[in-house]
Amino acid sequence: MKIFLDSGNPKETEEFFDLICGQTTNPSLVAKNPEVQNYLAQGKKLSQQEALNLYRQIVQEIYKKSKKLESISVEVIARRETSYQEMLKQAEQIRSWLPNLHLKFPCNLAGLKAANKVLAEGGRVNMTLVFSQLQALALAKVSQENNIQDSSQVLISPFIGRLDDQGILGVSLLKVINNLRKNLGAKFSILAASVRNLEHFSSCGEILPDDFATLPAQVLREYQKSDSLSEEERKIERKTERKTESSKLVSLEYQELEQFNQTSWESLQVEDPLLIKGLEIFTKDWESFTY
Ligand code: G3P
Repeated sequence: MKIFLDSGNPKETEEFFDLICGQTTNPSLVAKNPEVQNYLAQGKKLSQQEALNLYRQIVQEIYKKSKKLESISVEVIARRETSYQEMLKQAEQIRSWLPNLHLKFPCNLAGLKAANKVLAEGGRVNMTLVFSQLQALALAKVSQENNIQDSSQVLISPFIGRLDDQGILGVSLLKVINNLRKNLGAKFSILAASVRNLEHFSSCGEILPDDFATLPAQVLREYQKSDSLSEEERKIERKTERKTESSKLVSLEYQELEQFNQTSWESLQVEDPLLIKGLEIFTKDWESFTY
């Protein structure tokens, strides 16, 4: 499985240079960037334009640190009510920051419409805040409509840790989406996100050996540490973790969704409550350092 770094800090890109082949960012991760934290410590907030300039500098710095990265995902700043026209306007600007980046949109109707347009123009997208099979089905239809052949052009980011938080086994969504992809023959790559620990990471690798996971720096550090353990010691660790962590969570099951075969992706119910909450968190974190 290929590893991405989930971070808005170029120093971490440097730290994990040898291990990663891509990086994902989002408004919450930008808010954690040391420079942003510095402004906040001085009691200073940034205007929207200043914040966007800083976001651009951060992702350009990430790109400079590691030109070998296959993918850098840069997310639009979106609220629940942000229109697809507004997302596209931002996407147009973000596109000029780096060559060949993945434009990251929320997997709601506006985000899917924006992604559809970007794909039609040959761009790359990463759909974020994915919590359900229906969201994945909508994206599969968008990918098929655009006749996508290269699955790395379209990433889907299921948030496994946030499902765990709700008592649902997040990694079970990876299996569900993988099944959906196989059954429809749709072309997209799965990028497991909201990966909180090594147990998550090893399950991702078992379920999706040919796809991707994006890991925050602390999980990558644990991974590096565990690399020094023998295979036997690692197996024992994973088994113990699994018993304690995931046994109480409820698994999602793959649903046969023939009733939606003829339904257009625009009509599918993709407004998941966790997506709405996720957009609120991104907005709150962005507003923590902007005015
Ligand atoms: O990749 C998504 C991630 O940044 C969100 O992680 O731990 O806040 O659910 P978390």
